[in-house]
Amino acid sequence: MKAGIVGATGYGGIELFRILNVHPQIDDITLYSSSQAGEYFEDIYPQMQRGQSHILADVEPDKMKEDLDVVFLATPAGVSIDLTPQLQGGKAKVIDLSGDLRLKDQSLYKQWYKKEPAGEAVLGAAVYGLPEWNKENIQQADVIANPGCFPTAALLGVGPIIKERLASPSSLIIDAKSGVSGAGKNPNLITHFAHAQENFQIYKVNQHQHIPEIEQQLQQWDEDSQPVTFSTHLVPMTKGIMATIYLQLNEEMTVEKLQSLYKSYYEKEPFVRVREMGSFPCTKDVYGSNFCDIGITLDPRTNRVTIVSVIDNLMKGAASQAVQNMNLLFQADERAGLLTLPVYP
Ligand SMILES: NC(=O)c1ccc[n+]([C@@H]2O[C@H](COP(=O)([O-])OP(=O)(O)OC[C@H]3O[C@@H](n4cnc5c(N)ncnc54)[C@H](OP(=O)(O)O)[C@@H]3O)[C@@H](O)[C@H]2O)c1
Repeated sequence: MKAGIVGATGYGGIELFRILNVHPQIDDITLYSSSQAGEYFEDIYPQMQRGQSHILADVEPDKMKEDLDVVFLATPAGVSIDLTPQLQGGKAKVIDLSGDLRLKDQSLYKQWYKKEPAGEAVLGAAVYGLPEWNKENIQQADVIANPGCFPTAALLGVGPIIKERLASPSSLIIDAKSGVSGAGKNPNLITHFAHAQENFQIYKVNQHQHIPEIEQQLQQWDEDSQPVTFSTHLVPMTKGIMATIYLQLNEEMTVEKLQSLYKSYYEKEPFVRVREMGSFPCTKDVYGSNFCDIGITLDPRTNRVTIVSVIDNLMKGAASQAVQNMNLLFQADERAGLLTLPVYP
């Protein structure tokens, strides 16, 4: 298959290139750049050199939609809104890593992203690409809205308990932490090394654009779900997300029962690993991989559940999840190209 990556020089784009380079179904990769067309990707990132070099091409949707089988859009918010409709109607399937196509309600996009939303037609075509919860729809899609990094960790963590309506939705608190690569390759005052190192900072309090995305999926699982409290913190590490999730149970339950609920929900999912009782994952447990690791416990004194969900923000939170979606779109083995274990230490 022929794949194209728009935004290849960004953090998500580089990860996509790294994965697709060794993917058994991909035999040709074209890289696109809006600012560095004509340059060689491997001159910019010499660590990506392996045989043939890749010249960065101009983004030409009319050509791309006929030449390519799949196009990944690893671009900032706002780009896919115009680009996706131009890529539709040809041979290529589109997988968008930005938040442009995730929210079905246009007014929510406007409110949280402070931009004009995508049109109804493209939003209608876009399928939310959280494979563990939406596999059949993904397999039939032409356009995928790849989930955000925080929503991936949070939703995989709360899914079983919300779906089973075991907890009070209003009690849900998601306390999330991310490494600095979550903000992309361009540094700013907050992600600057001198500020971020040996620092721990909360940001976008009650204003993070991933809040409506999480709430949209919670609504699908339980129409009684409520607005969530979701906090994001910047941690002085390069990659990784940990979402610590708190929920009040509706009725008394044993931790063993909760544990087996999670095990049974995810037993057929190759990329979600539920820990044994008493064991909790850390971000290095999934570094460089497509895994989401989940630990769960219950405090019998408060009847409150604590769930810990970790992912690599650029992998299961972005690029490798996008490739998992590609595998499903093309009826391939869902695990193709994604079998690598985490990098440790
Ligand atoms: N970083 C994460 O952990 C993460 C996780 C999940 C989702 N995402 C989402 O994935 C997308 C990419 O994130 P990132 O972290 O890779 O960002 P990034 O490092 O800033 O890279 C974005 C790339 O987009 C390209 N670009 C910028 N403006 C463009 C335009 N007008 N048209 C076409 N391309 C343009 C740039 O490459 P050229 O200048 O070469 O075109 C840039 O390298 C974002 O929407 C982000 O929200 C990121």
